[in-house]
Amino acid sequence: MSAQIIDGNRIARELKDEVKDGVQRLRAERGIVPGLATVLVGEDPASQVYVGMKNRDARDLGLHSRQITLAADTTEAELLVLVQQLNADPAIHGILVQLPLPPQIDEASVLMAIDPAKDVDGFHPLNVGRLSTGAEDVLAPCTPRGVIEILLRTGHDPAGRHCVVVGRSNLVGRPMASLLLRKGRGGDATVTVSHSRTPNLGTVTRLAEILIVAVGRPRTITRDMVRPGAVVIDVGVNRLEDPSSEKGFRLVGDVAFDEVSQIAAAITPVPGGVGPMTRALLMSNTLIAATALAARVSHTEASG
Ligand code: GUN
Repeated sequence: MSAQIIDGNRIARELKDEVKDGVQRLRAERGIVPGLATVLVGEDPASQVYVGMKNRDARDLGLHSRQITLAADTTEAELLVLVQQLNADPAIHGILVQLPLPPQIDEASVLMAIDPAKDVDGFHPLNVGRLSTGAEDVLAPCTPRGVIEILLRTGHDPAGRHCVVVGRSNLVGRPMASLLLRKGRGGDATVTVSHSRTPNLGTVTRLAEILIVAVGRPRTITRDMVRPGAVVIDVGVNRLEDPSSEKGFRLVGDVAFDEVSQIAAAITPVPGGVGPMTRALLMSNTLIAATALAARVSHTEASG
């Protein structure tokens, strides 16, 4: 048996078309153009590429996008001043501070300073807490939201299925588990969370009908660790040196794709699986934030 290879680029395009329609509607009905500000501190080449792609996506979908690049020696106080300015700016509905930040800046303090209503990453502790207590009207992190959309749009609804998440990061593993546990669309799963300290990881991952892997280590999941017929979602993005490639490296996931694709029912490739969905969901979150902020403004106007 050979797995269905899930085309993340196609699903991301479908979702981005929906967001584009939503952006046009908000503009026509309310005169509002959703605005996304991305902040990059320093010159990390991978982060520069990611932020550049996010801004290009935003412009393609008719969003207002503002990219702010700060020097690598920016202080925490300077960054916090910028965040406050963006919080107060009515043309900006979503704020994304690209991680990781340089060592002189405390990530938690910066994430906490972002207005939770503009937190399109879903990393503010208020949004994290609301998601983990099951709230539906919450800005949730883009990568796990992208995984849920992949599952729903490929006919693998997680409701009632046993999902095993490998990884416990704040960016993916933990919010992934919260989304799968939530009641309603995209949720209602039975969830097991495992990680690098789980003994006999294969005995846990073999229980999965849906296996979601986000650990950041190539070949963490091999064929013997996957139940035949499982749906495998590979969130990992690892750079492997490859002198034969033009860039000097190639991207691989956390799953041994060549062997696992022989027994899985469906599997996401790297690249071209979860990655494009993360960016599409960032656009979706910006539209959601702009719509919610617009409703808040109308409410204030009506009651004022
Ligand atoms: N760095 C890697 N992934 C992400 C992400 O989803 N959001 C932010 N802000 N930084 C990242």
